[in-house]
Amino acid sequence: MRHLLKMADLTKEDIFEILDLAAKLKDERKKGIAHPILAGKTLGMIFTKSSTRTRVSFEAGMYQLGGHALFLSGSDLQLGRGEPVQDTARVLSRYLDGIMIRTFAQREVEDLAKYGSIPIINGLTDYTHPCQVLADIMTIREYKGKTEGINFCYIGDGNNMANALIVGCLTVQMNVSVACPAAYRPAADVLAFAEKFGDKFRMTESPTEAANGADALYTDVWASMGQEKEKAEREKAFDGYQINDRIMEAAKKDAIVLHCLPAHRGEEITEKVFEAHANEIFDEAENRLHAQKAVLVKLMGLANSY
Ligand code: CP
Ligand code: NVA
Repeated sequence: MRHLLKMADLTKEDIFEILDLAAKLKDERKKGIAHPILAGKTLGMIFTKSSTRTRVSFEAGMYQLGGHALFLSGSDLQLGRGEPVQDTARVLSRYLDGIMIRTFAQREVEDLAKYGSIPIINGLTDYTHPCQVLADIMTIREYKGKTEGINFCYIGDGNNMANALIVGCLTVQMNVSVACPAAYRPAADVLAFAEKFGDKFRMTESPTEAANGADALYTDVWASMGQEKEKAEREKAFDGYQINDRIMEAAKKDAIVLHCLPAHRGEEITEKVFEAHANEIFDEAENRLHAQKAVLVKLMGLANSY
C-alpha cells in the first residue's frame, strides 16, 4: 500500500491490518503511552473544502505520532491560481513526507499520486471518503465484534459516502443494502463492483426495505459540499429517506446508527434517533483519529516496522 486514494485499492487484509494497528494506537493513547513513530516527518494537508474532523484529527494525529502537520488552504496555494497538479506534486514531494488532500475531483488526488513521489491520502473528494469509511468499519467492529455477515444499511444520497461505504463494507464481508432515490444512485463503477457480490448487495428505492434486519444504519447529508445551491430540490427528492422511528423499527433492536457528520437534524436523521445513538456516532468521530494514525504509520513509517 503506497497511497490511500479510494476504498477499492484496499483488500480485506489491508483494511484489517490498518484497523488492528488503529486499535493498538487507540489503546496506547488511552493508557498514556507515547508513540512518536513519525518523529521528524511532515504531512502537508491541502484543503479546497471545509473540514472540522478531518483537519483536526490529522493534525492532532501527526502531533501524537511525533511529527508535524501543515495546513495548506487550496486557495492560498499557487494551485488555486492554476499551477498544475503535476508541478505541485513534484515540488511538495521534495519538502514533505506525505500529503493529505480534500478536494472536488478524484482525478486531482490520483494525479498527485501519479506525479509525486510521496504517499497521498484522500481526505474526501466528490467521489469517495476512504478515511471516514476506515473509521466506520472500525466502529462497527467495536460494537458488533466482527464485520463478516453484519447487515449494513445506507439510506440517502448516493454520494461520496455511499460510494466508499458500499465498497468498504462489501470488502470486509458485510451484507450491504442501500436505499437511494432513482436520480441519486451511487457511481456506476461502484454499482458494477457491488454486483460481483451477488445477493450480498441490495439496492432499492424503499428505505424500510433496506433497513429490514439491519445491524448498522448509516446516513449522510442530502446536499454535500459544493451542492448547496441544489438544497431545496434535493430536500424534495429525499422526502421519505430520513432515519426516524419508522426506519428504526425495521432494523434489529440492537442496531447501531452511524453518521459521518456534520449532521442535519430534522433532515436525513431525526433529533431523537441521533441523540439516542450519540455514543456510536461520537465514537465513530473519535475513531477517525485512530484509523488515520494507523494509515499515516503504514504509509509514512519505516517499512514493516509496525
Ligand atoms: N466527516 C468528516 O469528514 O468531517 P469533516 O468534513 O468535518 O472533516
Ligand atoms: N457527503 C458529505 C460528507 C461530509 C463529510 C460531503 O461531501 O459534504
